[in-house]
Amino acid sequence: MERCGPRRGRVIMSLEGKVAVVTGGASGIGAACCRLLAARGAKVAVTDRDLPRTEALAREIGGHALALDVATQAANEAAAAEIEASLGPVEILVTSAGVLQRPLRAEDLPEADIHQVVNIDQIGTYLSAVAFGARMARRGRGSIVTIASISGSRGLPLHAYAPAKAAVIEMTRCLAGEWGRSGVRVNSVSPGFTMTPAMASAIQAGERDPALLEETSALGRMITTEDVAEAVCFLASEAARAITGIDLPVDAGWLVAPSWASYGGLPPARGNAA
Ligand SMILES: NC(=O)c1ccc[n+]([C@@H]2O[C@H](COP(=O)([O-])OP(=O)(O)OC[C@H]3O[C@@H](n4cnc5c(N)ncnc54)[C@H](O)[C@@H]3O)[C@@H](O)[C@H]2O)c1
Repeated sequence: MERCGPRRGRVIMSLEGKVAVVTGGASGIGAACCRLLAARGAKVAVTDRDLPRTEALAREIGGHALALDVATQAANEAAAAEIEASLGPVEILVTSAGVLQRPLRAEDLPEADIHQVVNIDQIGTYLSAVAFGARMARRGRGSIVTIASISGSRGLPLHAYAPAKAAVIEMTRCLAGEWGRSGVRVNSVSPGFTMTPAMASAIQAGERDPALLEETSALGRMITTEDVAEAVCFLASEAARAITGIDLPVDAGWLVAPSWASYGGLPPARGNAA
């Protein structure tokens, strides 16, 4: 029988010696993933279109830095070839490169914003997954974690971003089927409202209200980048060896809370939690 004690847990959550690549790794959620992957023993390639910040984080965690703009197939293919030549076969890919969107009325959303969000968040995620995933599939081993969003599961005033994230959740399912027999698992993590540099500037610009972001979740709080990184590292590890094609929300219960409004709202805290 399999041992499930804490000792066994530490072993299967370990990422010792595995080569891991993170796109959009220089900031926010991607940076937290780089730090935790490195802390669990992975050899991390930090990639981002912002090279100075990529190099700074790679120095901090003892990783490898590479400039990568995920929006083109050629750049993703070149990055996969270069990283594998210098670090060896990639076993873990985390796709965190992405941009947020201003909440605008549909008729006010500029066409350029739609193209930018779809090109980076949706098409960029797909191109990265295919460049690295095809190599994993040929070797019969690997785990990909895409960063989607709770926006991909609900209607919101984010008319480009929410559909692009829904596409990430769906492409994750498609790729899980594509490469399942080749030993590659593909899952998505959907963060709730996470305090990152991108979120901080949206709050500063008056595009998000932090009090509302906290209030609308069951747990009554926002998400930290470390909360998301923990879920990513779990899905990337052997502990998740039978899990593929899922979307794991890390949202403090934002997806379950709003429907309570029809019954007068969430009940107040009981007992000592009050
Ligand atoms: N912050 C949130 O509340 C939240 C919630 C759900 C999902 N997400 C998703 O998490 C991911 C990370 O967001 P974040 O909040 O950490 O933002 P962030 O701005 O802190 O980090 C995003 C990183 O992606 C990089 N990037 C942007 N476009 C790129 C491109 N074309 N190629 C390569 N790198 C590129 C940026 O340079 C930046 O370093 C995004 O996919 C975002 O949609 C964020």
